[in-house]
Amino acid sequence: MAKNIIWTPATTFSEFSLLPDSLTTEGCTIDKIILETNLAGIKAKIPLFSAAMMSVTGYEMVLSLGRRGGVGVLPNKLPVEEQAGIVKKAKSCEMEFVEDPIIAYDSETIRAVVEKLEQHGHSTIPVVDKYRKFLGMFTQERYWNMGKGLDELVTSVMIPFNKGTSQIGYSENPNLTVGEVKKIFRDNDKKYLVVIDSLGRLVKLAFKQDIEDIKVGAAISTHKGWQDRVAANIEAGVNLIVIDTSDGYNEFAGNLIRDYKSNSAFEGVPICGGNVVTYDGAMYLMEAGADIVKLGMSSGSICTTKREKAVGRAPMAALVDCDNARKAFLKKTGRYVPLVWDGGAASAADFIIALTIADAVMAGGYFNHFYEAAGEKYDAKGKQTQDETKMAFVATWGEGSERARNYERYSQSRRTFFTEGEEGRTEYWGRLKPILEKDLNKIKAALSNAGSRNLDEFREKAVIELMSPASQGIVGDIHNMQLYKH
Ligand code: IMP
Repeated sequence: MAKNIIWTPATTFSEFSLLPDSLTTEGCTIDKIILETNLAGIKAKIPLFSAAMMSVTGYEMVLSLGRRGGVGVLPNKLPVEEQAGIVKKAKSCEMEFVEDPIIAYDSETIRAVVEKLEQHGHSTIPVVDKYRKFLGMFTQERYWNMGKGLDELVTSVMIPFNKGTSQIGYSENPNLTVGEVKKIFRDNDKKYLVVIDSLGRLVKLAFKQDIEDIKVGAAISTHKGWQDRVAANIEAGVNLIVIDTSDGYNEFAGNLIRDYKSNSAFEGVPICGGNVVTYDGAMYLMEAGADIVKLGMSSGSICTTKREKAVGRAPMAALVDCDNARKAFLKKTGRYVPLVWDGGAASAADFIIALTIADAVMAGGYFNHFYEAAGEKYDAKGKQTQDETKMAFVATWGEGSERARNYERYSQSRRTFFTEGEEGRTEYWGRLKPILEKDLNKIKAALSNAGSRNLDEFREKAVIELMSPASQGIVGDIHNMQLYKH
């Protein structure tokens, strides 16, 4: 007889709904909510990691997600020099001027400008008159705060520009260098810097957020050579090392973590252990010294582990058990270990439910939809294309798929006997920024419903409820109607 048979069915994100069970105070409106997450000292501005998959995370993803405050994790299958090379390039990436910014005219309504913002995924846009004279900055936050109607003029809510405006720095030197801009941002409390000509017309602009340091992670396996990979990545400036094993409740992972933590050359760069899905597995990695623990098995979009060998666990059961281990470990040692959910979270709604327990979420399939994903792009007829206007699909494949040659992560030998992942394609959604910004706003809106100003409060206050299959039908989506075909 098995050691244990669990009769309670394990559940996933979409079976739960978040209750608006805490008072939404004036302090937790969307514009005031912060999504920063502290991952063993790494302060990521948003709680999202892109998966360490060859079809997902390369330089473009690291840069784009990193600029929004998330963390791209470079796959272990990249040759060491390439992985560390991308880290180095991302860490030293120069900020750039926005030479040809999207602009709003003073004659436009807030509605028209908000539409423009949504289309491009920006939250800030310069306002000019018909001669392109710079008048001020429209920011979504300020608009939300001022409570003006959509049909009012954009000028009624913009931060007006005069040469003494506190948030907007300016220069009349068209040859201003990026280095000089960085210095201005460092020395002054400005969020934006505009370059104007002698008539006050907008030439170009720069955003302070673009000079903030990009956070980047690198995956390693437990196999021989991991020390060299770690050393090269640390030398390149990596922020986080992530052990990439499908079953992290494993002596190789435990020993690696102990070795890592006792090596002074690796000090200051946290290590994330994983993946585990049970109380004992999570406790094992925390006791070995993991700074962060990653959870999930067989819920990944391209994953066939459960189909092939019956192993895996549904997300919510894994999250709850591992969270209990984390609580017990905290009580015993006083050390709080952040948990990262990995696999099967593919929308803002999934991220929200996962974040009621986890400190961050890693996603592969979600990020695979975008231009910045590393997988090659295809047009509607299935022909590979570099033309952004024709892109219809993005290649996706699991790290344990035939294409990925199925070694390292999924075996202790060079090749396993069977694959644990598929190869296929996902729908192309365009550039990451606009869709991610929208999804981040959905997450903020959910936190607001739960009366939470930040993710720490959210994990304390969130109340989620399991729905019956019938309730999922009526609460979970539209019903009893037909959609217009667009
Ligand atoms: P997704 O967000 O649902 O696409 O899940 C992404 C996660 O799937 C990754 O971060 C890995 O943990 C996992 N994964 C990646 N490749 C494979 C594979 O080939 N088999 C099983 N799981 C995989």
